[in-house]
Amino acid sequence: MSFLREINYLRLSITDRCNLGCFYCLPRLDWQKLPAPEIMRYEELLQIARVAVGLGIRKIRVTGGEPLVRRNVVDFLEKLTQTPGLKELCLTTNGVRLADMARDLYGAGLRHLNLSLDSLKPERYRQITGHDNFSQVMAGLGQALDLGFQPLKVNCVVLKDVNDDELLDFARLARDLPVQVRFIEFMPTVNPERWTRHFLPMPEVCRRLAVLGDMQVVDRQPTAGPAEIVRPVGFRGELGFISPVSRHHCPTCNRLRLTAAGRLRPCLFADLEIDIKTPLRQGASEAELASLFEEAVRTKGCLPEVKLSQSSLPSCPMVGIGG
Ligand code: 5AD
Repeated sequence: MSFLREINYLRLSITDRCNLGCFYCLPRLDWQKLPAPEIMRYEELLQIARVAVGLGIRKIRVTGGEPLVRRNVVDFLEKLTQTPGLKELCLTTNGVRLADMARDLYGAGLRHLNLSLDSLKPERYRQITGHDNFSQVMAGLGQALDLGFQPLKVNCVVLKDVNDDELLDFARLARDLPVQVRFIEFMPTVNPERWTRHFLPMPEVCRRLAVLGDMQVVDRQPTAGPAEIVRPVGFRGELGFISPVSRHHCPTCNRLRLTAAGRLRPCLFADLEIDIKTPLRQGASEAELASLFEEAVRTKGCLPEVKLSQSSLPSCPMVGIGG
């Protein structure tokens, strides 16, 4: 599938539930969890994955909410890895349940893991997430390293006056361990005041990391996301920089999203969604499902380029879209 660029990457949100409540991600108070029957069933997700891969999707990332809170997720991932033609299966997790599940996930065939972690200080982790799970997450990271998940990425949303004094500590993780530490700009998804207060532009992050010295730019893969990746001299791992706000990715964006409610979402920041669950449940053929994907890709190509700013806030409940 293409619209001036190859669309080869699908993000599947498999649940809108999360076992953390990060202050920058919490949905509005009037937000309601999806009733269970509205959430895509595993068989439905597998069918959608088959259709998508048939259309040229090569990489699928499973997200949430928090995907590891959904029952029988390991079994689902094992089936998903068997989708013919799928090259990369990745999972994004907050790591709270990772220590217990890493071995089974590896056994299911999963190799690519992204771990969300916004502080290396237990007390601050609790302030950001509302939960006291820092030691579980670090144990999960340790398990993932021991098992040899690769690539193993740590995603850190940079928050001014919250965790921006830890940039070098995060970078040191990548110096000492074979992980890619990715700094992500805070996106204005929920609360405009918070965003204004805590947004730190990526060029400033890079300036503060300049003390690390020379950095070699690492080539991106064709299915890669928008990260710019470097390896500072002497590092075992890498650093990634993701700047959705200060540098828009629209012209090269290669992804589609499926929300937990079974809607194809061509752009994270456009509220437009295409319902694929209803036709699927009404017995649509694979060709009909494929045409919905094609519509999503066409729509994607026609959306105006996103200009994220305080004055153009999308209504974006991240927890059901999966980032
Ligand atoms: N800005 C940047 N990243 C966000 N995430 C959730 N909300 C935001 C936001 N407003 C991130 C999580 C996780 C990934 C799934 O999305 O921290 O790393």
